[in-house]
Amino acid sequence: MIKRKNSLAYLKHHLDIIHYLFPFIWVKDWSIRIRYLILIFLTLTMIGLNILAPIMLMKIVALFSKGTTSTITIYMALLAYGVTWTLSQFTALVREIFLFKAVERSVRLICLEISSHLHKLSYHFYSKQKTGAMVSYIEKAYRAFPDVFWGFTLNIIPTVIEVMVATSIIWYWYGPLLGLSLITTIVVFIIFSLFTTEITSKVQSYSNENHFQVNAYLVDGLVNSSLVRYFGKREYEKEQIDKLLKRREETEIKSQLLMQYVRLGQVGIISASLILITWFAGKGVISKNLSIPDFILINSYILQFAVPLFFFGFIFKDMRKGLTDMEQLVKLLRTEQEIEEKEPLPSIRYKEEWGIQFKKINFSYGDRQVLKDVSFEIPPGKTVALVGPSGSGKSTISKLLFRFYEANSGEIIIGGKDIRDFSLSSLTEVIGIVPQNTSLFNNTIRYNVCYGNPKATEIEIEEAITIVELDSLIKALPDKLSTQIGERGVTLSEGEKQRLAIARVILKKPKIYIFDEATSFLDLNTEQFVQKNLKRITQGVSTLIIAHRLSTITEVDNIFVLDNGSITEKGTHMELMQVKGLYYNLWNTQSHLLSSEHYA
Ligand SMILES: Nc1ncnc2c1ncn2[C@@H]1O[C@H](COP(=O)(O)OP(=O)(O)OP(=O)(O)O)[C@@H](O)[C@H]1O
Ligand SMILES: [Mg+2]
Repeated sequence: MIKRKNSLAYLKHHLDIIHYLFPFIWVKDWSIRIRYLILIFLTLTMIGLNILAPIMLMKIVALFSKGTTSTITIYMALLAYGVTWTLSQFTALVREIFLFKAVERSVRLICLEISSHLHKLSYHFYSKQKTGAMVSYIEKAYRAFPDVFWGFTLNIIPTVIEVMVATSIIWYWYGPLLGLSLITTIVVFIIFSLFTTEITSKVQSYSNENHFQVNAYLVDGLVNSSLVRYFGKREYEKEQIDKLLKRREETEIKSQLLMQYVRLGQVGIISASLILITWFAGKGVISKNLSIPDFILINSYILQFAVPLFFFGFIFKDMRKGLTDMEQLVKLLRTEQEIEEKEPLPSIRYKEEWGIQFKKINFSYGDRQVLKDVSFEIPPGKTVALVGPSGSGKSTISKLLFRFYEANSGEIIIGGKDIRDFSLSSLTEVIGIVPQNTSLFNNTIRYNVCYGNPKATEIEIEEAITIVELDSLIKALPDKLSTQIGERGVTLSEGEKQRLAIARVILKKPKIYIFDEATSFLDLNTEQFVQKNLKRITQGVSTLIIAHRLSTITEVDNIFVLDNGSITEKGTHMELMQVKGLYYNLWNTQSHLLSSEHYA
């Protein structure tokens, strides 16, 4: 939230937001642009008709008071007045028809921009955000544009123009007293509105913030609903959400009340001016300075503009909310991606003789250094393993490879070039990963398995599924591959989820494989079966296996032991056993546990 020193800075800030969003309004599509041009034309026509109608009424009253006018002339004048008035109402409504499509196109474009921007933002950003709050951004985009647009284009701008024209006419025809009274009213009205909007906007932002927090907490609770059950925390969750709802209730009431006071103030200003100007005009009629038709014209103008001005309060309220929402959207869109790609970067044309080299990588999460001078290589076509205690930095290495984060120093080399010299999309195409935490979409098995390769044939899908031994499960399901697996795959066991993730990467057919604890949830028999198949698949393909269960990596070409962010040992299984270091100790502990489990 910017620090608002005064109304002018506030206005400038909002103009800046509108300027930023302008490309989403004046879109590169002439079918939309023409709508805006028609809208401007219709608005000008409506303004003209609105100015004309009271003048016609004045003329009709003048014709009546003359007494000599023919009936036919009066009828014609009445008809013309009726047509003018009706046309002005019609044009007002027809404008909305032209605006619908244009506004909805802007909503679509901004929602698209926000959703793709959210995907591009840094992983650091994600780790701080709550899902519920992120979803609210899209919700805001749905509302903010229409609220601001309708208010500005349909009401505020035309009313301001009409009032200015009518004031000029009144000043020109009836002198500065009435003209100045009208101008004073408008100036007071605008100053009051801007000043109070500044105050209400702060309360509104606070209220929005509380609204966000309720959403975020609710979504977080729902995402972790099984945990809430396991720990018997339903009442606790209810109490927590009630605390947040109470805070939201308080700020919302405060905000609504404040808005209502603002409206009362606005109505007060308009009413006072209405009384004053009618009084001056009436006095003019009594002193014979003004005629009755003049009085009618002045009164018609005032009444005609009082109604939209009365509504300004309502419209301001929606617009205020819309502008605050837009401010947050623009703030989000201005959040830079952490990994900047200076387009256009070349794609990787991966060659089998390349492999990957990690050279002197140092990396910190904030102030905490988790990787220290890490250097190792996945030689072309070879399989290497990364082992080490929990938290030693193994998964972080795979995240650096996918450029979730940027290393503080050092480089990751593919084909003699830093990975930063290649486009990110081609990098992710070349490397296939089974991440430690299985991510699955709330969709069908087929959708999830084919995510890395939507063009996979039925035979390829079947093959991948057999490799991970999911074939019997899928055959048993009534909807087979079309079975919905629920939020994050809740309807599957952990081992099944992992196997689905392995099948997904097999179908992707990457040039480099990364398996991060990919079979940790499988029983020993299934693990052995899947491992055997994977060995066949990864034969001759550069592969990195991150594993805790050392029995699964004894046959790999090279093993690197990561301890507290540093590579402390490297070699084959046999070599490391001879070193009698950390690897040797881990191996002995695991074999001891396995054998005691076996005899238990
Ligand atoms: N997004 C993050 N922000 C801050 N610290 C993090 C983040 N992710 C991981 N860490 C920290 O970095 C360290 C290394 O994490 P990493 O996930 O790489 O460990 P790991 O070796 O894969 O462990 P495990 O075997 O348990 O999977 C840990 O101490 C962890 O707390
Ligand atoms: Mg890990």
